[in-house]
Amino acid sequence: MPTIAQPSIPAHSPGHQPDFRWSSNETNLHSLAFTQRSLFRLCRSTKYIIALESISVPLAGAFRSPPAALCGITSKIVRETMAWATTNLSLAKHLHTQSAQWIEGGCVRKKASRSIAPPIWSPFDLTEGFFLSHALLTLERLGILDSLRKPLTAHDVAVKHQVNQEILEATLRMLAGRTSVVRYRSEKYQTTSAFDKLARFYLLQYAGSYGLNAHELEQILKEPAAGGRLVDREQHKRAFEQMQTSENDPLTRLVLQLDFTRVLDIGCGTANMLIYLAVHLKEFIGWGIDISPQMCAAARRKVAAIQNGQRIKIFRADSRQLKSALPARIIKQVQAITAKGVANEFFASGISEAVAWLSNIKAAFPGRTLLIADYYGQLGFNKKPGRVVGLHDYVQVISWQGVPPPDVAGWEKVYRAAKCKLIQTVEDLPNFIHVLKL
Ligand SMILES: C[S@@+](CC[C@H](N)C(=O)[O-])C[C@H]1O[C@@H](n2cnc3c(N)ncnc32)[C@H](O)[C@@H]1O
Repeated sequence: MPTIAQPSIPAHSPGHQPDFRWSSNETNLHSLAFTQRSLFRLCRSTKYIIALESISVPLAGAFRSPPAALCGITSKIVRETMAWATTNLSLAKHLHTQSAQWIEGGCVRKKASRSIAPPIWSPFDLTEGFFLSHALLTLERLGILDSLRKPLTAHDVAVKHQVNQEILEATLRMLAGRTSVVRYRSEKYQTTSAFDKLARFYLLQYAGSYGLNAHELEQILKEPAAGGRLVDREQHKRAFEQMQTSENDPLTRLVLQLDFTRVLDIGCGTANMLIYLAVHLKEFIGWGIDISPQMCAAARRKVAAIQNGQRIKIFRADSRQLKSALPARIIKQVQAITAKGVANEFFASGISEAVAWLSNIKAAFPGRTLLIADYYGQLGFNKKPGRVVGLHDYVQVISWQGVPPPDVAGWEKVYRAAKCKLIQTVEDLPNFIHVLKL
């Protein structure tokens, strides 16, 4: 199979030159480029924009996140187009799985995503939502939502968790009556499929990790930096701990495509990506660094539970002081550095902190490749931020992380100031991967 020439990815020590590998011929890629462009236009026409900057990884990225509104309108065209793409390209196997998920995912989510504009909450909605979200979070913390995977009466649950039955029953009735999370049938309560891993992630990440920030807004308004100290790191860890990296994760796919087998993951969280790579690539060796003791403890536990877990080492340290955090022999071995969801934490006061963070990485790994997987901020930049991004941005603001730049030009200012070169951009808006030469 021919390898299509790509913008040169920087050489890095020790003597390994990766490139993008596209297993197809140019004609097919050319046609696929048109397909991609058409899909892009269709997406735009439904106001659901996905930007596809190039062909290989963006496909994975784009298909991972189904343009549901598009699917509702043009599922036949989408299906036919994808059928064409899958039979005509030798990257078919991957595409096939992805397109199936795309179409299926799009249709499943059609109803939910019909209205693109987020609802505007009334004062009563907010008040009700306040009590419901607290109730849900508390039942999650107590393990009651886990118990309710099977139908139980309030009495059963109260006995099992040693809580007051009347108050529990009232709480469950409210949740069953006013949310999609709990259902009530024949005197029994049960969580529904709406409370899946992602729903739990949202709950733990936002209401759990940053709930105190919302509660202490007055303090934060007077002393913004206090927001950083109020984050509940235990809940943050729990949000990530229950997740796993899937084969569709664009950053993981890019690492595999680029043949990197010695990777340092900055802000590794619970080491989900490193674990995926170690499990699927027998020659893989990875190092994770994270500032949070809770994340590191969970990462080590997860790593210890896999076969060959000794191929991953976790360091608890601040990535703003990389050289002192990592032994020189490890710094020497690292081929590429990844940073997923961490760069956005350094925008509380303009770009200076992000520039310092990046300059520090460059100083430790000059000339090597850094893959930043992050997102374009919207709050304060877009008139109407998307619902999920809007919430995320707001949480960033009240936890002293700031809203990251809204576009590639904004991020490039950071890269230029840190004397790094942006080589390739892969976007699945609002998310992106930027490939940098340090
Ligand atoms: C949003 S989480 C992402 C975790 C992981 N990369 C993932 O995608 O699953 C961001 C992580 O960056 C870590 N982090 C934040 N600031 C850091 C710093 N200065 N040095 C190292 N890690 C940091 C946090 O503790 C957290 O685990």
